[in-house]
Amino acid sequence: MPFREVRDARRLQALIGAMLLIEADLDLQSVLQTIVETAAEIVDARYGALGVLDSSGSGLAEFVTTGLTDEEQEAIGPLPVGRGILGLLIRRPEALRLPDLSLHPDRVGFPPNHPPMASFLGAPIVVRGQAFGNIYLTEKRTAPEFSNEDAVVLRALAVAAGQAVDKARWHERMQELTLAEERERMARNLHDTVIQRLFAVGLRLQSATSLPGSPAAERIAEAVIDLDETISQIRTTIFAISRPRSPGGDSLRSQVLDVVDEATGRLGLDVQVDFEGPIDSAVGSSASEHLLMALREALSNVIRHAKATTAEVAVSVTDGTLTLRVVDDGIGLVPGAPGGRGLDNLHERATLLGGDFHIEPGPDAGTVFLWRASRLA
Ligand SMILES: Nc1ncnc2c1ncn2[C@@H]1O[C@H](COP(=O)(O)OP(=O)(O)OP(=O)(O)O)[C@@H](O)[C@H]1O
Ligand SMILES: [Mg+2]
Repeated sequence: MPFREVRDARRLQALIGAMLLIEADLDLQSVLQTIVETAAEIVDARYGALGVLDSSGSGLAEFVTTGLTDEEQEAIGPLPVGRGILGLLIRRPEALRLPDLSLHPDRVGFPPNHPPMASFLGAPIVVRGQAFGNIYLTEKRTAPEFSNEDAVVLRALAVAAGQAVDKARWHERMQELTLAEERERMARNLHDTVIQRLFAVGLRLQSATSLPGSPAAERIAEAVIDLDETISQIRTTIFAISRPRSPGGDSLRSQVLDVVDEATGRLGLDVQVDFEGPIDSAVGSSASEHLLMALREALSNVIRHAKATTAEVAVSVTDGTLTLRVVDDGIGLVPGAPGGRGLDNLHERATLLGGDFHIEPGPDAGTVFLWRASRLA
């Protein structure tokens, strides 16, 4: 255990105090900030930074600092990506102590407006055996350079930091899980109460229409249709909230809903959305991208050209074919109207994915837009 090497009782005490402080935090971001602040304080460094490695492990994703004012930070510009001495610690995760940064052969130099920094002390933070990031300290206040004991203290702190990061991550995971469960529960409740009740009302109304000669029969029949539509809308909503956002990005269904929301939100178009088949599992990222572009173009056309009040969007995957159908109740295609690039692009996107694209007049009025793709992987 590295603590044993810390001989100075006062420093040992400060170190243990710092560890308790770091441990007390549960939020990862504030854990990182506390680590870098306490590290700088304990070894008398004027500046401190904590670099978190990116997923490739060869550069920095995050850089938390202490000692610089906001103005100084702004003047320096973008955060470092992990070259030079910072990169050295990334490639060789071992404590590093230098009397003067500028004398090291690996240095790449500071950007303009960077305060001068000479003495340097760095140590890696390891979480569950994996490099997580590094603590970098510069400008020992009370001496020209950092001492060997500073390095020992920092290493000990880095061990505690690794454990604190691990704990904070675990805590965040648990919170995520609780949230996902809560969402799942809400969706289930919504389904089991509201939908079933609507369904029951629909059935009651339906049996009422079977009484012959009832003057209300027609109105009731309309109400039944309305209810059916409401049920389908709520089902779609339930699907959206019961599906937690996956770490690799949102599911295709929720992205479709987002695009539709944009269109409805901006222009008051009433759009109904229906899904069918294994949309999230069967459609790869490239086909998803094309589908979303096709949907955007279709809705933008409805908004700009159709003068429609409602539209229906249906996305389905059946027998390995992805189909997007957008139907509006607008004025329909005007023969000979000059067109732009939109529809041509959609032909190309469909052909690229082994599919096809048609736009044709709707059964009564409006336009039917049918886009299909078969190379979905
Ligand atoms: N839903 C629709 N209802 C009525 N007319 C439509 C509809 N969709 C397309 N059109 C007609 O077809 C034409 C060609 O559409 P296209 O998307 O290729 O071009 P654009 O929308 O005019 O321009 P761009 O897409 O390049 O911005 C439109 O200009 C419009 O006249
Ligand atoms: Mg267009």
